[in-house]
Amino acid sequence: MESIVKAAEKAQEHGIDLSKLPQNMNMTTESITANVLAMNANCPDERMKFIFQSLVTHLHDFVRETSLTSEEWMTAINFLTETGKMCTDIRQEFILLSDTLGVSTLVDSINNAKPPGATEPSVLGPFFTEDAHDVANGESIASEGKGDYMYVEGRVLNMEGQPIANAVLDTWETDGHGHYDTQVSQLLIFRAIRKMIGLLGAETDDGSYAYRAVVPVSYPIPSDGTVGKMVTKLGRHVFRPAHLHIQVQAPGYEKLTTSLYFKGDPYLTSDAVFGVKTSLIMDPEIVTDVSLSKARGFKDAKPHAYLKRDFILVTPEQGAEARRVLADRARVAI
Ligand SMILES: [Fe+2]
Repeated sequence: MESIVKAAEKAQEHGIDLSKLPQNMNMTTESITANVLAMNANCPDERMKFIFQSLVTHLHDFVRETSLTSEEWMTAINFLTETGKMCTDIRQEFILLSDTLGVSTLVDSINNAKPPGATEPSVLGPFFTEDAHDVANGESIASEGKGDYMYVEGRVLNMEGQPIANAVLDTWETDGHGHYDTQVSQLLIFRAIRKMIGLLGAETDDGSYAYRAVVPVSYPIPSDGTVGKMVTKLGRHVFRPAHLHIQVQAPGYEKLTTSLYFKGDPYLTSDAVFGVKTSLIMDPEIVTDVSLSKARGFKDAKPHAYLKRDFILVTPEQGAEARRVLADRARVAI
């Protein structure tokens, strides 16, 4: 037939080399996987080809193992569609999905392995935004009256214990009601709460930083979206233990994304997003000497929590070595 000849010509015009593609039809539950892999075999990007080989294999095995029904597959497609619709510049439902399934922690632990002695990483979470404003050392990231006072200080050091100059510390947390700035801004009190996030330049050569904050509280991950509903349906609770997010960057060192948690929090061992590490659990001192509260810049003469924490960064070479050790261990474990 003429149309078939034309189709073959068109394939050539499109640069499709049919001889390099599998010549199979009649896909079965057994043959489909090998055929999809064969269709992907000409991918010029070796890493992408490898990732899709694994993805397709595991995805197909998942469908076979569960005998997934058409209805269940459509539920999954609708779920992902709705998850995408939830995403905006300040709401990332897919990160929340990755977090609650433990994928974020898994990717993080592979990619940010640290040698013993370095500060351990923790999940970024869905509330990080790029638009933190500058806060001078010793100043406040939290609006007055948004929670109990907390003063945070420490130093940014390298693995040899030497101070790192010019580190930039990006920090964000909930207010005393468990809300992030991006959540509260939607209630149109943007200006009052914007300071729940701050970017601090370590202005001193000794790597020291300090800022006023509030004591963060445990909070539920957003329950108005697809992920919150999924977590509830799975019979899980939606809470994260209280934590203070911190990201530290310095020239010549790997970026550290971590969080500090608080001793005694009831959700430390069942964090909805699996972020807690014992090395990151803090036991802040309660400073009752209110003259010190005033001296540290708090408006009212009230007690405050005092959190002292150094952050130990690694060089790219030290990080690479830690990842190599981890990869070797994983291979042994397999
Ligand atoms: Fe958080």
